[in-house]
Amino acid sequence: MKALLLAGGLGTRLRPLTENLPKPMAPIANRPWLEHLITHLREQGVDQFVIAAHHCSDVIRRYFGDGRRWGVKIEYALEPFPMGTAGAIKNAERLLDERFLVFNADIVHLPQLIPLLEFHRQHGGIATIALTEVDDPSSYGVVEQDDTGRILRFIEKPRPEEAPSNRINAGLYILEPEVMRYIPAQREVSIERETFPRLIQENAGVYGMVSSGYWRDMGTPARYRQVHWDALDRRFPLSMQGRQVQPGVWTGEGVELGSGVLLVPPVLIGNNVKVGDQAVIGPYAVIGDNCYIGARVHCSNSILWDRSVVRDGSRLSNSIFGYRTVAPAGEEFKNSIINQPQEVMQA
Ligand code: GTP
Repeated sequence: MKALLLAGGLGTRLRPLTENLPKPMAPIANRPWLEHLITHLREQGVDQFVIAAHHCSDVIRRYFGDGRRWGVKIEYALEPFPMGTAGAIKNAERLLDERFLVFNADIVHLPQLIPLLEFHRQHGGIATIALTEVDDPSSYGVVEQDDTGRILRFIEKPRPEEAPSNRINAGLYILEPEVMRYIPAQREVSIERETFPRLIQENAGVYGMVSSGYWRDMGTPARYRQVHWDALDRRFPLSMQGRQVQPGVWTGEGVELGSGVLLVPPVLIGNNVKVGDQAVIGPYAVIGDNCYIGARVHCSNSILWDRSVVRDGSRLSNSIFGYRTVAPAGEEFKNSIINQPQEVMQA
């Protein structure tokens, strides 16, 4: 079975980090989220992927190539313009001739596929939408279902008292190839706003099943950070690179800590990181590979992507530094999101 990974959005809400990076390639715990997702799906038995991409698609292609290194086959469906979440599916039609999975590749979750596939087979619909339950559904599209699980309608951003359920679209679908007949070609089409409502209206059989477990989209800086803190707090079983050297502290290979360095859990430090004397890292800090942290730096609630440099005495809180960011000495960074021009990423 093939999985189509939707990775062609512009990621505007995560700018400037996504100015030269597709959002699903943003690292989570020092590895591109797309890599975590592909690895998880391979463990679930999926070994063929189509990546639907547009914005900075080269970053994805150069990183994953044909997927061999990950033990999977990866093909690409590149869009001449962002074709939307259904337009991207239509654009990949020639690569999808059987039942297939679709993932919004910016959603952080590690779903179990077997129960969803079994549900889809039993109900025989044209589409099964994985649903997730949220405490406050008022900023999402909420589903109304009948007793069999059939979706009757979507209600966008309902007031709390009007929400028929707390179940929302989790951004994971099982689709039959007949869906293609309902998606117009060569234009932008949204699956949420256009295709699913049309399939429901035409009674084509759209079902929803709750996929339990951790679920969060990483589309804004606050959510992107929160995914990290949840990973560090082990709220979901994301694989962490490195060794846990004390409870809540993971460090990679070749890490050099100066004298008097304090690591306040939870903290993740990548490979070949140097930390200067008296620095305080954490709580809630993720330091990418090959970073250099100067003496007396304080870094909490912050994420540094690979090869970043923070010079002596600077203080970071609630900040995200993109690849190779250099922060001068003695500066304070609060709620800062910094990105600098990039070279191409290699796996
Ligand atoms: P914002 O610009 O911040 O809204 O982000 P986005 O448009 O990149 O993401 P959004 O949350 O709207 O989309 C959900 C998922 O669908 C993400 O993984 C996107 O990469 C993907 N996506 C959105 N639009 C397109 C598109 O036109 N083509 C493709 N291939 N994927 C898309």
